[in-house]
Amino acid sequence: MKSILLILVTLILISCSEKENTKVLIQSPDKKIQVFFNVIDTEAFYHVKFDSIQVINRSRLGFEFENLPALKSNFKIAGLSKTSVNNSWQQVWGEKKIVVNNYNQAIIQLEEIDGLKRKLNITFKVFNDGLGFSYEIPKQKAIDSIYISNEITEFELSHDYSTWFIPANFDSYEALYQNKPASEIMSANTPITFESAKKDFYLSIHEANLTDYAGMTLKKQDTLKLNLQVDLVPWPNGVKVKAKAPMKTPWRTIQISNSAEKLIESSLILNLNEANKLKDVSWIKPTKYVGIWWGMHIGTHTWIQGKRHGATTDNMKEYIDFAAANNIKSVLAEGWNTGWEKWGQPKAFDFITPYDDFDLQEIADYANKKGVKLIGHHETGGDTKYYEKQMEKAFGLYKSLGIHMVKTGYAGAITPSGQYHHGQYMVNHYRKVVELAAKYKLVVDAHEPIKATGIRRTYPNMMTREGARGMEWNGWSDGNPPEHHVILPFTRILAGPMDYTPGVFDLLYENSPKRVVWNSNDKGTSRINTTLSKQLALFVVFYSPMQMASDLVKNYKSQPAFQFISDVPVNWEYTKVLNAKIGDFVTIARKDWDSDDWFLGAVTDENGRTLDVKLNFLDEGETYEAQIYKDAENSDWKTNPYAHQILKQKVTNKDNLSLKLAPGGGQAIRFKVVL
Ligand code: NOJ
Ligand code: CA
Repeated sequence: MKSILLILVTLILISCSEKENTKVLIQSPDKKIQVFFNVIDTEAFYHVKFDSIQVINRSRLGFEFENLPALKSNFKIAGLSKTSVNNSWQQVWGEKKIVVNNYNQAIIQLEEIDGLKRKLNITFKVFNDGLGFSYEIPKQKAIDSIYISNEITEFELSHDYSTWFIPANFDSYEALYQNKPASEIMSANTPITFESAKKDFYLSIHEANLTDYAGMTLKKQDTLKLNLQVDLVPWPNGVKVKAKAPMKTPWRTIQISNSAEKLIESSLILNLNEANKLKDVSWIKPTKYVGIWWGMHIGTHTWIQGKRHGATTDNMKEYIDFAAANNIKSVLAEGWNTGWEKWGQPKAFDFITPYDDFDLQEIADYANKKGVKLIGHHETGGDTKYYEKQMEKAFGLYKSLGIHMVKTGYAGAITPSGQYHHGQYMVNHYRKVVELAAKYKLVVDAHEPIKATGIRRTYPNMMTREGARGMEWNGWSDGNPPEHHVILPFTRILAGPMDYTPGVFDLLYENSPKRVVWNSNDKGTSRINTTLSKQLALFVVFYSPMQMASDLVKNYKSQPAFQFISDVPVNWEYTKVLNAKIGDFVTIARKDWDSDDWFLGAVTDENGRTLDVKLNFLDEGETYEAQIYKDAENSDWKTNPYAHQILKQKVTNKDNLSLKLAPGGGQAIRFKVVL
């Protein structure tokens, strides 16, 4: 269903007033979103309406440079071309198989009225689920090298929206989300999500296709105001972006919907990325995994070789056996390579040499015999230079062992010193890793990553990443409160898959009495702040094509509830959000990519609640066995977190279910087609 309609319009001039001399209107295909572009007093502005309500007020566009006069005024519109696109494309893997790509586009060619007569193009694409705009500085005589000191882009909110955000941080996204009126925010990372007072519309600001550019944060000059301005993460000398004409910026995106449910279903970020560049994708496979990992976080094991070393040949064989017996296709080992004793120092990690008690070849052979894949691990400690030196050889080693997955980490300050995790230098480093990994047929799970901006479409080997406060924080800090899980789907995960690593069953670490405190955030009171059923529900609610069952495997043995983790897929044909309230609850249903089964996950914050759901998403004419994993009557994340029930009942798409969730609880259901 490819139909591309190309309309070239030389210039549309709608005279409004003397000053507001030019107006370009770009509407979404359903006409609900209207984006207006204006040149007023020679400056460039846009504003946005949704359902006739102004949602973003007049906001400025343009650039300041270190080495050139600013491109922010003296503008006229020199040309305009409009296009409409309505097609669809298929993902290599995903939260949905088919993505509809339907938008109206305008490319506005600005030119300086006098002086150097420099050119700046701005492209707007307006979809039914939001909009994106990006700048292009075309090749031209007056511009060669470009040192951006400030991208002037503004988002002037029209209302004092209720806002979910984390404060801007150039090195980390691992803060707890806050909910405040927009007026009280001074800075934010993106995605940042807004709810209108009447809860009749929702916005989320982020970026798509972050390539060879600095990560975007937002800042305000004053509290009380509603004017969020782009604040790019700098190079050590303060320059934000180094480029040469021609250059394009990432897309600045605003997802817009009339419900919190639809925000999650949006494909805007993916649609604003380029098509898959990898020809052979046969080696790219979504996977569940277990691994030698949680023991280090709770302090029963160490990354370093010694008495409590986690990554030993024997432990790995136990994990491989468990995986093989339980429909878990992959196993991770952290602390397998030498250098952990130098973590935090320069040139710490050696990505080739295993510790003596980790026989890499023997483990690889054993996994192969059992039909289990290994996931490699490269903790760089942030030392990108030392990593880049070893990367090709390290990836080659994995290739020679038949390993197709690598988890990377950047836990530490970046080397070269003065670089931030989210600046242009690191954006380019992370991309270099993805591209080289593709050459060696490796998929990447990046921790301490650059944020997700939809690159997974172009490089489907960029499968998942952390980039938010994940499970690990429960191992050695006050942890993630019950509300965290009902904020992430509306903020961080709008950007793309997250490797949260759910599935801890030993919620109070009762089977691990000999924990050694190793992290300064640990007050010795760490635990998981959910019920057990909620851990299961997170496998459906948090989308990730690599999904870890993160507990020690001994805690899964003889646990009937593990059956759900064994059954749940990681690749989905279709996703439907059944109900949602940001910060309170969410229920998501997903259809397996490879079978006709459906799965459902419902989670709540610290308040217990009952959610009634219609099963009309199930396929017409099918009968299903609903395998239900639910909180018990008296479950409570604080006082009675383990209690749960496993029930079975027959259902069709005419039925309803009442999901009773305990405080901090959840419910997970497999709808298995009855043949
Ligand atoms: C932080 C990562 O998020 C975590 O998963 C990993 O275990 C440690 N770094 C060590 O690499
Ligand atoms: Ca982390």
